[in-house]
Amino acid sequence: SQSIFAALLTAACVGAFSTTPAPSTSALLSSTSSSSTQLCEAKDHEHAASPVYDAISTNTAFSSYQTRHAESISNPSAFWAKEAHKRLSFFTPPPKSHPTIHGSLEKGDVKFFPGAKLNVCYNAIDRHALARNGKGGNDVAMIWEGDEPTDTKSFTYNEMLEKVSQIANALKNQGVKKGDVVTIYMPMIPELPMTMLACARIGAVHSVVFAGFSADALGARIHASQSQFVVTADIGLRGTKKIPLKDIVNDSLTKFDNENLVDKVMVYERFYDDSNEDEETEDSEAAPYDMKPKDIRMNPLVNKMKPYCVPEVMDAEDELFILYTSGSTGLPKGLVHTTGGYALYAAFTTQTTFNLEKGDIFACVADCGWITGHTYVVYGALLNGGTTFVFESTPMYPDAGRYWDMIQRHKINVFYTAPTAIRSLMRYGDSIPKKYDLSSLKVLGSVGEPINPEAWRWYYENIGNSKCTVVDTYWQTETGGHIVTNIPGVTPMKPGSCTLPMYGIDTVVLDAQTGEVVEGNDVEGVLAIRQPWPGMARTCLGDHKRYMATYLTQYPGYYFTGDTVYRDSDGFIFVTGRCDDVLNVSGHRIGTAEVESALVGHPLVAQAAVVGKPHPIKGQSISAFVMLVEGAEESEDLIKEMKMEVRSGVGPFASPDQIVVSPSLPMTRSGKIMRRVLRKIVAGEADSLGDVSTLADPSIVDVLIEKAAP
Ligand code: PRX
Repeated sequence: SQSIFAALLTAACVGAFSTTPAPSTSALLSSTSSSSTQLCEAKDHEHAASPVYDAISTNTAFSSYQTRHAESISNPSAFWAKEAHKRLSFFTPPPKSHPTIHGSLEKGDVKFFPGAKLNVCYNAIDRHALARNGKGGNDVAMIWEGDEPTDTKSFTYNEMLEKVSQIANALKNQGVKKGDVVTIYMPMIPELPMTMLACARIGAVHSVVFAGFSADALGARIHASQSQFVVTADIGLRGTKKIPLKDIVNDSLTKFDNENLVDKVMVYERFYDDSNEDEETEDSEAAPYDMKPKDIRMNPLVNKMKPYCVPEVMDAEDELFILYTSGSTGLPKGLVHTTGGYALYAAFTTQTTFNLEKGDIFACVADCGWITGHTYVVYGALLNGGTTFVFESTPMYPDAGRYWDMIQRHKINVFYTAPTAIRSLMRYGDSIPKKYDLSSLKVLGSVGEPINPEAWRWYYENIGNSKCTVVDTYWQTETGGHIVTNIPGVTPMKPGSCTLPMYGIDTVVLDAQTGEVVEGNDVEGVLAIRQPWPGMARTCLGDHKRYMATYLTQYPGYYFTGDTVYRDSDGFIFVTGRCDDVLNVSGHRIGTAEVESALVGHPLVAQAAVVGKPHPIKGQSISAFVMLVEGAEESEDLIKEMKMEVRSGVGPFASPDQIVVSPSLPMTRSGKIMRRVLRKIVAGEADSLGDVSTLADPSIVDVLIEKAAP
């Protein structure tokens, strides 16, 4: 079925290109090119001269990609040394006597520029504020738009420097030291990116937990990272709905031993009024929430802090942040990203993939709770001295024109969202985006899941007016930044395909069974990477063995992505699915094991198996099969209770759309649940279940089809 899917996508591409005479990309792939210095000039010229589609018919830029890509992987040390020199300011530059890249994928001990010293916050803010004899300080660093379209704020680089310094000083004032883990559970208010940057400034390690996670999930992450500090807000706002974040934090402290572990809970107030400052005190009774002894009112504390904080000198391999993500087991997996390599890769990919230019307003509408928010809301644009746009609300509030209205009002140049949002907005028709002036746009991005050609085309035509490049960026929490994507004006677009590897990324397709490299085109396999790159996560917090087993030892010598791909006849990559038990619901990565363990938390559930079901908007929805304990009866209330278990165990975004109560589950004789059978049944493909003879009780299949087939 994977090859059918891929064939359909390829067929769709031909359709999309039918208006533009396109030379075969395989011809482009075999052409030769100029040196890399000429490449930079050609590239810039190309950007100025031609927006997007022309790129496919001018092979100058494309062949420059091939040359630069080949150079980047034949001599990665030289490539990344040059990029680091160009893009980062070091307190102590990478020692000339050392190679850029230390360690290997085989050993799992990769380091970039160890011994070099820098500070990521200094790189993201100070040096731009100081640029051009201090005039850079007046450039706008961040534009924020709140839940209400009228609620906007903007901050220059000077203002960012002051505010982030004050927050950094407030954190220090509360005892946060270099190396401490600070858990951040916040809504998308300006203080969220600022607190992340403040942590980076003082060398604390931020661990942002998406504010849609439940108290159980938050508690598990606080415990796993042994974090003594939590930063939150009293409430979050989404489409006027108030989310009681502080109450959830209170609840999370009742889990594990968190009450003893956590020293301070620092609380921002969503509606704090700076103009009342004189009347406010840090321990005021007037706090709009029930203050506990550990709570600190952040706004008045921050406001009284000194507006400069000396940035901590960090080693390139010091930890910058932890971000938890889902894997095959129920335990949260804390990926660790380090200072120099991550910053370089965030800066490099932001500029390259989005053709970010001076003065551009860059809007990534992801939440900072996910890796997309880390790399492309907080770090990427700022490291390049650009303007990042931060969005608190939802694409549907007050109506389905919200994104387009924002683009018009703020003259956004680069807009970056997920296919699930595009698909849901498409349903409201073309007339909505037509009401807005979207002419400021030059690049549109897609991330998080494959974008189906129909949604791609809608985005390209209706939002980009058939003039903007659509970049389909494939990457992961683990990779730190884009690893496979097209590049505006340089490589061709192909709807449904994330196209070709980023510079410095040596992708290979491997045979899943043998681990052999699959050569040539029109082939399938698993996607792996043959060489280290700066943005790769270095370990799983407290569990390097798990890091090795998940990513590096499965196919020795390669980083294993966990994704299956098809490489088409032109050499372009299409992601076809995951090879582990990880789901992708509306671009959110959810482990089946996490949902299953929440379901069995219900006293009447004996066993549960969760699979993804194709969904026209969300990409996948969650279908759960449950076996009840002896004597329990199925009822509507019970189904509701089970959904509640998932909402409170993981978060509302992981709630199953379908729960099927079944007398038993399809187990092999060795006791493993055959999820493949369940996936096929919910997808309506029960006629191609494959071999079920190893099931302990094959007759269960008919019962399940009867109950669960669409
Ligand atoms: O399966 C791939 C899918 O999302 C996974 C990574 O999820 P996460 O770590 O949460 O990061 C999401 C944002 C980078 C991948 O293993 N994925 C991500 N981007 C794409 C994608 N699948 C297809 N096309 C993409 N552009």
